[in-house]
Amino acid sequence: MGADPFDAQKETIVLSETSTAVVSATLPAVRSHGEAITGRFYRRMFDAHPDLLDLFNRGNQATGQQKAALAAAVVAYAGHLTGDTAGTPWGQILDRIAHKHASLGITATQYPIVGRHLLAAVGDVLGDAVTPPVAAAWDEVYWLLACELIAREARLYAGAGVPEGGPVWRDWRVTGRVRETADVVSFTLAPADGGPPGDFVPGRYVSVAVDLGRGRGQQIRQYSLSGRPGADEWRITVKRVRGEGGAPPGLVSGHLHDRVDVGDTLRLSPAFGEVDATGDGGPLLLVSAGIGLTPAMAALAHLAEKDPDREVTLAHADRAASTHALRHELPALQERLPNLAVHLWYEDAAGAEPSPLKAHVTAGLVDPDRIPVTAGTAAHLCGPIAFMNLVRGSLVRRGVPAGRIAYEVFGPGMLPG
Ligand SMILES: Cc1cc2nc3c(=O)[nH]c(=O)nc-3n(C[C@H](O)[C@H](O)[C@H](O)COP(=O)(O)OP(=O)(O)OC[C@H]3O[C@@H](n4cnc5c(N)ncnc54)[C@H](O)[C@@H]3O)c2cc1C
Ligand code: HEM
Repeated sequence: MGADPFDAQKETIVLSETSTAVVSATLPAVRSHGEAITGRFYRRMFDAHPDLLDLFNRGNQATGQQKAALAAAVVAYAGHLTGDTAGTPWGQILDRIAHKHASLGITATQYPIVGRHLLAAVGDVLGDAVTPPVAAAWDEVYWLLACELIAREARLYAGAGVPEGGPVWRDWRVTGRVRETADVVSFTLAPADGGPPGDFVPGRYVSVAVDLGRGRGQQIRQYSLSGRPGADEWRITVKRVRGEGGAPPGLVSGHLHDRVDVGDTLRLSPAFGEVDATGDGGPLLLVSAGIGLTPAMAALAHLAEKDPDREVTLAHADRAASTHALRHELPALQERLPNLAVHLWYEDAAGAEPSPLKAHVTAGLVDPDRIPVTAGTAAHLCGPIAFMNLVRGSLVRRGVPAGRIAYEVFGPGMLPG
């Protein structure tokens, strides 16, 4: 992960003395009402700016995940400024938010809108407790955080060649569509203007903006690039999210599966993401579950070309060989990566004979303690949060420093702790 650039600037990012006292005194109340405040904030903001509804993920709004992520970020940052939460990896947190924002094309001009409605929501929820000095102190917290993000996002846009103020979106033509499993489809994509797709670091993702049709507006989702960096086309591999237990089916994955075919156009952001899935040149451990294999597949394709002697372990968990997307690519990757060891856990291992794939196949759920670890390993994890927590705990217990364990969450937020 490298040095935390935010730490290097720590001395310069301080809350004024008056505000520190006020924020310290009111932090417990704001923390305990955090989600009520952000819930109120979204309602206010969307009433005033219905156009912003197209920018936010409706699924996350409905399930409350985005509320939790925004509230947690603001409260944790206030704690950081007042010395309440020592040791929080701020550089990583801000990088994650900034990359996500950049992939959505968030502009500096939108920060005053969010700030205004967030602070008004604090007033709505906490009532008379929000005196003018309290409002001023939280305004200061918001803007210190906002300036950090705006600066990072400006650097990301410049690096991606996006002009200040956007737009981030570019049209891409769907050049191929492959059904990988019953629920997973890959799309290959080339810029519609005929230009080169550009390079990317394995682990990066694109935002895909789709018009849902029939007046249902636009929705944006992120998809990790699953193909080889440097190829003439980019590839995303999308799992259909089925509606379960009364919840509706996934909007964008369903749209891509049901309505997008070769010859269609998709709007994509440049590739963003704070994680490099290829480690740092030493032994690499790629751990994935289900559709979480997409960044690992980009990493393997990259290493097969650029660093074929790398010692790599792929540990992947899936329901069965038949649900394991892109499994058919592993034998060719193994040919080109002689030091690639593959360990698979299938809940249903019937018919999972690995030939021509050379793999250790275990029936049942993954046992994190049996994932092989060698000295000096850097790890990259991608899968459900509970799975990644178990794996990370096991790796740390077995001597892998937490700082050498990178991970990707396919939703808002980060791993706790
Ligand atoms: C960095 C990153 C990389 C990713 N890479 C990939 C990838 O490579 N491949 C991939 O397939 N996915 C990937 N994802 C996940 C992807 O972005 C989407 O989240 C996923 O496709 C689901 O989107 P959807 O629109 O289909 O589902 P949504 O419509 O967003 O629904 C998501 C969930 O919310 C539930 N929900 C929605 N509305 C309600 C409601 N009213 N009440 C209760 N529940 C509700 C749905 O039932 C569903 O379970 C990635 C995500 C991130 C952040
Ligand atoms: C200081 C101000 C802000 C903070 C602290 C903040 C924080 C966050 C966090 C924590 C996430 C989740 C990141 C993740 O995926 O892990 C997020 C996502 C997002 N933010 Fe911000 N944000 C801020 C300002 C803004 C602004 C100005 C906009 C533009 C209107 C914006 C729009 C979004 C959107 C659209 C998402 C993705 C939502 C989703 O996928 O559900 N944010 N932000």
